[in-house]
Amino acid sequence: MTASVLVVYATRYGSTKEVAEKITATLWENGLAVEIQPFKDVKTLNNVSAVVMGAPLQMFRWHKDAIGFLTRFRKELCEIPVAIFALGPFHDEESEWQEVRKELDKELANFPWLTPVSVSIVGAKYDPASLGFPFSMIPALKQIPALDIRNWDAVKSWAKELVDKINPGTN
Ligand SMILES: Cc1cc2nc3c(=O)[nH]c(=O)nc-3n(C[C@H](O)[C@H](O)[C@H](O)COP(=O)(O)O)c2cc1C
Repeated sequence: MTASVLVVYATRYGSTKEVAEKITATLWENGLAVEIQPFKDVKTLNNVSAVVMGAPLQMFRWHKDAIGFLTRFRKELCEIPVAIFALGPFHDEESEWQEVRKELDKELANFPWLTPVSVSIVGAKYDPASLGFPFSMIPALKQIPALDIRNWDAVKSWAKELVDKINPGTN
């Protein structure tokens, strides 16, 4: 069985899944064998040559499925290239991007053994109308207008840059 790259993600409202799909398509177009799964469906990393993992930040925390994945597969993830992305910023402003990167770095600091080949922040997709309880009760969240600042060209460029970093043939 040929080893392939695994793109693995968590999503609450669907936007991270779409980013994971774009990354998967780009890796495929660039000649890599690649599969995509939600974190929860991953039973083993046998025959996985590299992992690209992504999840949204929510209430200053990275999605719990991403944290659970790092805990479950520590041994395997120490032996293959790992690239990470997180969705978060509501505005295309450098200061907010840096804050979100700090939120993510704080989460990743709990996994000092993890040395990602690349880390990327992707802008948020957000719709206050989709908020369920208890988030629908938080005025600061309800006031944020619907937005989608995911930059698809940047996502594609990042995925292209990953090709050489995670392709076993070029390591
Ligand atoms: C209730 C809620 C809380 C959020 N909290 C954060 C946060 O603390 N930090 C951040 O950077 N983004 C935050 N976001 C933005 C999400 O990361 C963003 O909307 C993302 O695109 C959602 O991903 P999903 O559609 O895959 O669930 C929050 C979004 C929601 C709806």
